[in-house]
Amino acid sequence: MNIILLGPPGAGKGTQAARLTATRGMVQLSTGDMLRAAVKAGTPVGLQAKAVMESGGLVSDDIVSALIGERLDQPDTQGGVIFDGYPRTAAQAEALDGLLADRGRTLDHVIELNVDEAALIERIVGRYTCGNCGEGYHERFKRPKVDGVCDVCGSTEFKRRPDDNEATVRTRMAEYRAKTAPILPIYEARGLVQRVDGMADIDVVSAAVTAILDA
Ligand code: AP5
Ligand code: MG
Repeated sequence: MNIILLGPPGAGKGTQAARLTATRGMVQLSTGDMLRAAVKAGTPVGLQAKAVMESGGLVSDDIVSALIGERLDQPDTQGGVIFDGYPRTAAQAEALDGLLADRGRTLDHVIELNVDEAALIERIVGRYTCGNCGEGYHERFKRPKVDGVCDVCGSTEFKRRPDDNEATVRTRMAEYRAKTAPILPIYEARGLVQRVDGMADIDVVSAAVTAILDA
């Protein structure tokens, strides 16, 4: 099963994708994570993407679709993937159709996480991750069980994303409204879109997503 999780910055795409990976063995394909890895490694893609990401703008369609294509050629994706943060433009949606068709795969669901944008600023500005294993946390909504110690790996190093400040988040949201929300009708016309209340508790959102996949 291949699904898209769609929603603005902070909607919970990464959180829900990680859960589906843990519970169903699906593979998370996050273009944001791939780009951050490229920036960290200083690859040519990373060098091109760094400033755009820090401004909150979108990296070029060709770059992100190439990253997804390469990833889909790896055998672990054959059992099912979660597209997290991709596609983000009409051109990327079209590219994804081609990438899937070329590999004889199909798209099963597009799950839109419905959220209140005003509340997302708090979600994003409070977010941090384990510097070692990448587990996600939030100052208010998801603190480690022991303060300052990662629940998963025990590391005491945490980090924040450079684009998780209020000004950049506002640009990211504007980009979502202008370029990403308009792709929903493409998938609605195919009967693929289902909506989940992304403002509910993380567990409640997970249950709603699971119900869609099990239906
Ligand atoms: P990307 O990494 O995709 O960032 P984003 O879309 O802005 O989304 P986020 O990762 O910020 O939010 P999320 O929905 O994953 O929320 P999360 O689960 O972490 O992209 C970053 C940049 O890369 C882009 O700006 C662009 O420059 C570039 N890029 C990436 N893909 C691209 C593409 N396809 N094309 C062009 N450019 C691209 O949750 C947020 C916080 O809230 C967490 O702390 C979490 O614990 C908490 N939380 C989650 N769910 C809940 C809940 N239900 N209740 C309370 N708290 C919750
Ligand atoms: Mg994310």
